[in-house]
Amino acid sequence: MFPIRLTDHLDDDRTWVVPIAVSGPLSHDGGELAAEIAALADGMEKAGEIRIFPRPLRRPAKVLLVGIGAGDDAGWRAAGAAVSRAAEDDEPLQVIDAPTEVRALAEGLWLGGYRYRDGREEPRSAPVDLVVTDPDEYAAGLARAQVTARAVWLARDLGNTPSSLKNPDWLAEEIVGAAAKRTDVTVRVRSGAELERFGGLRAVGGASVFPPCLVELSRHPAGATKHVVLIGKGITFDSGGISIKTRPGMKTMKIDMAGAAAVAAATLGASDLDLPVRVTALLPLAENAVGADAYRPGDVITHYDGTTSESTNSDAEGRLVLADALGYAVAELDPDVIIDLATLTGASVIALGTHLAALFSHDDELAGALTAAGASAGEAMWRMPLPDDYREYLRSEIADRHSSPTQGAGAVVAALYLREFLGDKVSAWAHLDMAAPSWADETELDLTRGATGWGARTLLRYLETVSASPR
Ligand code: BES
Ligand code: MN
Ligand code: ZN
Repeated sequence: MFPIRLTDHLDDDRTWVVPIAVSGPLSHDGGELAAEIAALADGMEKAGEIRIFPRPLRRPAKVLLVGIGAGDDAGWRAAGAAVSRAAEDDEPLQVIDAPTEVRALAEGLWLGGYRYRDGREEPRSAPVDLVVTDPDEYAAGLARAQVTARAVWLARDLGNTPSSLKNPDWLAEEIVGAAAKRTDVTVRVRSGAELERFGGLRAVGGASVFPPCLVELSRHPAGATKHVVLIGKGITFDSGGISIKTRPGMKTMKIDMAGAAAVAAATLGASDLDLPVRVTALLPLAENAVGADAYRPGDVITHYDGTTSESTNSDAEGRLVLADALGYAVAELDPDVIIDLATLTGASVIALGTHLAALFSHDDELAGALTAAGASAGEAMWRMPLPDDYREYLRSEIADRHSSPTQGAGAVVAALYLREFLGDKVSAWAHLDMAAPSWADETELDLTRGATGWGARTLLRYLETVSASPR
């Protein structure tokens, strides 16, 4: 990651980045310089709008004006991202009038400066200095921004990796390698016979030449009062299986492990921030392939909790692997909160469009906390219902439940299906269907084209909040 530094010193040999609010430049000095900048900035209203001037202020410095909109976190994040994209990779920058929202600005700079690190393109290298009156005051905010951005970069890298490389073993190894850099995170990978009770994971992963596995990351810091279990769908490629997808439907299905990536990245981030919260992350990893060993429409699958599912559509694979992980969490981990993230349904994309994740929870407090965490971190979600009277859609004549009913409300029914595996011990559960925001067709605001890393930011903020509150 390119360096972002705090300084109280303004110099002339770096490009000046000058933030412009809807109401005009922020400059406090009110002098001649401010008036000249105001003239250059006339009419700049949009956060992320850029204007570049080679040498406008009778100073040696080049000037890059950037709109910050209303000057809220979202505006600063959009501005930071736009600056990273507008500047040259080797051009040192200096943000004059850097804000108290140092965290949002720095997150934007790093998120907008992301490039998929496949070794073909060098990332930005030159430093960005933020000029503030008291650098020490903002050091903690900058450090949090760096941990957040590192988590998002990791989730994006994993999501963008093509499935020719990214099979379950590869993904598990990446996560094991990242966890090994943190002394307080332990990791266990189950495969083969150890997956005996994970019938959903074995069924879904059965046709691939790359076998499935379950990654369990845990950190249990002294003094932690709450145990948060995070579960992430980790389908390294979703062909649909025998119920094969259409060509356009399959195009971006390397992203179908984005839930697992976000969950792992947030867990590692919690370690980097040394948050006093116990976290266990469960990542069921499998490739949903077509082959002679594929599970079939009409098959009955036995899950970790001993209950069975009838599956008539092998493309509804995500809920089957999540069912095992939920059952395992409830039976073995004694969680206070369970949050699962999954690129689960196309129906959620149809319901909410490209930017919103669908949030399902019975727990108003948890739903509120996640929505607030997302809002402050720059990830949006919308709460959806869990209507009891749709439960009958899950009825099966040959199994405890049907995993792929066709009556409609696809995102809702998928959530109701997952709820079945909570038993009656855990009330604080939330499900985030992130099929839509996990992928961006275009670079915009703090997102770069391709994998967005959606969820890492929200989860990290949520864990920060949990750590800050006493119970
Ligand atoms: N991975 C897909 C969902 C998806 C769609 C993710 C678009 C990202 C973008 C999931 O496994 C799937 O295929 N869901 C089916 C469920 C149906 C068969 C009940 C769907 O949405 O069509
Ligand atoms: Mn599918
Ligand atoms: Zn899928």
